Amino acid sequence: MKTQRIPVAFPDLTGREGEYVGKAIQSSWISSSGEFITRFEKEFASECGTRTSIGVCNGTIALHLALLGLGVRSGDEVIVPSLSFIATANAVRYVGAEPVFADVDPHTWCLSPTEIEAKITRRTRGIVAVHIYGHPADMDVINQIARVHGLWVIEDAAEAHFGRYRGRKVGSLAPISTFSFYGNKIITCGEGGAVAVSDENLEVRMRTLRGQGMDPSRRYFFPITGYNFRISNISCAILCAQLERKDKILARRRSIYQNYLGQLKDIPGIEFQPVAPWAELSPWLFCILVDPSSYGRSRDELMRHLDENGVETRPFFIPLHRLPPFREQSQLRGENLPVTDLLSERGMNLPTFPGLSDKDVEKITALVRDFRKV
Ligand SMILES: Cc1ncc(COP(=O)(O)O)c(C=O)c1O
Repeated sequence: MKTQRIPVAFPDLTGREGEYVGKAIQSSWISSSGEFITRFEKEFASECGTRTSIGVCNGTIALHLALLGLGVRSGDEVIVPSLSFIATANAVRYVGAEPVFADVDPHTWCLSPTEIEAKITRRTRGIVAVHIYGHPADMDVINQIARVHGLWVIEDAAEAHFGRYRGRKVGSLAPISTFSFYGNKIITCGEGGAVAVSDENLEVRMRTLRGQGMDPSRRYFFPITGYNFRISNISCAILCAQLERKDKILARRRSIYQNYLGQLKDIPGIEFQPVAPWAELSPWLFCILVDPSSYGRSRDELMRHLDENGVETRPFFIPLHRLPPFREQSQLRGENLPVTDLLSERGMNLPTFPGLSDKDVEKITALVRDFRKV
């Protein structure tokens, strides 16, 4: 009998997701109005500690909307970490601005405050702080740098739902925070996103931009060029059901993290994601670093070995400053980001999702332990 492959992520849709989708369909509100949209935007804002949240089609669009809302435009520079998913930098390009890449801090894997300072130029307008692999960036320091230099800050919290920074909620740590609800995220609706915001002017501007730029008090009058960035009531039906079970989902993910930590702890050459004393990690995808000099095998060899044994993994992101759309500009700026390069070369994600059993974790960790070459 062929054993089942263990995927790296798998959505948990075992609550009222189907029932709520059915309700949305029965109500015939399947587009961008409906009770689940209102409910989700309110409940998610409360999870973020913001006055409101705005649902959009995905996390990339959430970033795009945030940048439009802040008035970023051609010729502007935006500082972003190079260790991120490409959407962070792509969104900057969508508004005609240029992403300038900064290195990450080895203690958080998020934007290093000193690196940010070194990248600020006359053209810098803002910073996108990514909470990478569920770890919050050092937001107080980043916000302070932004204040001193007159910059705005966005939190890219796509990977860090429900994380905390010094006891405060991820989502409330910058004027605008963006989220993704892609299928591998902690709460998901397949494709979806949101921006969390408290400032009323920003909210009105982003809601208008999301809805084709239409004046909310005058139908078919469009004072600005807007977009269709809306989310559907069906997607929000799924998200409402996900939110109902978020504590359960988080508890199971945390237990998987603990399990991995316990079972991998004494393997030479296998290192874990650091967690700053002020951080409460969002348990998204469990990370390890493979140091080939003490493990005896490279990260890629280990990934191949796991794959051959039915376990799917992911390598860390390729540094954004090395990717074709960005590398030329990056080279012109002389960017040198050694921490990002090292993490990208050694890092990988192990399967992490609520349906992963303790036995699965045992199988995966045994494969990692036994593959070491001494
Ligand atoms: C850090 C980060 N930002 C933005 C996104 C984009 O989100 P989406 O895939 O929903 O467009 C992702 C990924 O999924 C991400 O990991």
